[in-house]
Amino acid sequence: MERTFVMVKPDGVQRGLIGQIIARLEQRGLRLVGAKFMAVSNELAETHYGIHKERPFYGSLIEYITSSPVMAMVWEGSNAVAAVRQTMGATNPTEAAPGSVRHDFGLEIGRNLTHASDSVENGKGEIGLWFNEDELVDWQRANDGWIFE
Ligand code: RTP
Ligand code: MG
Repeated sequence: MERTFVMVKPDGVQRGLIGQIIARLEQRGLRLVGAKFMAVSNELAETHYGIHKERPFYGSLIEYITSSPVMAMVWEGSNAVAAVRQTMGATNPTEAAPGSVRHDFGLEIGRNLTHASDSVENGKGEIGLWFNEDELVDWQRANDGWIFE
């Protein structure tokens, strides 16, 4: 089953939106595989966002992600990467589709509430970076057959 790494960023945590964001993923039919509420070290933030190192917003992005705790999670399901990116919406909240998390709760790109892996391959790397194997749970849900064909 396809897996993706998802994070409620510091603004989502501070604004009390963890529950509403998790509810949207559960309601979509995705299955939670792992979760931890944690502070993010500079080292972890820099590795996670290493791809953006040369971008002008890199410094403020690292400051943002390390400013307050985050909720780090792994979710799985059919097309989990694409489905979660769609549920979160476009990077810039004013370009995100109505009904998406970033549209419904956000205004600015630098306070866009969530992170979600952008490919299956990057998802694997991010899951390995944020979680140990023994923190991920393989399990079946009673209603899986009514969500996964
Ligand atoms: P994420 O990695 O956080 O899920 O977001 P994303 O794929 O939609 O966007 P990405 O291009 O990977 O950018 C990572 C995060 O950097 C911040 N950002 N700020 N000021 C800017 O122009 C700018 N561009 C990106 C956002 O917090 C974005 O989510
Ligand atoms: Mg990204």
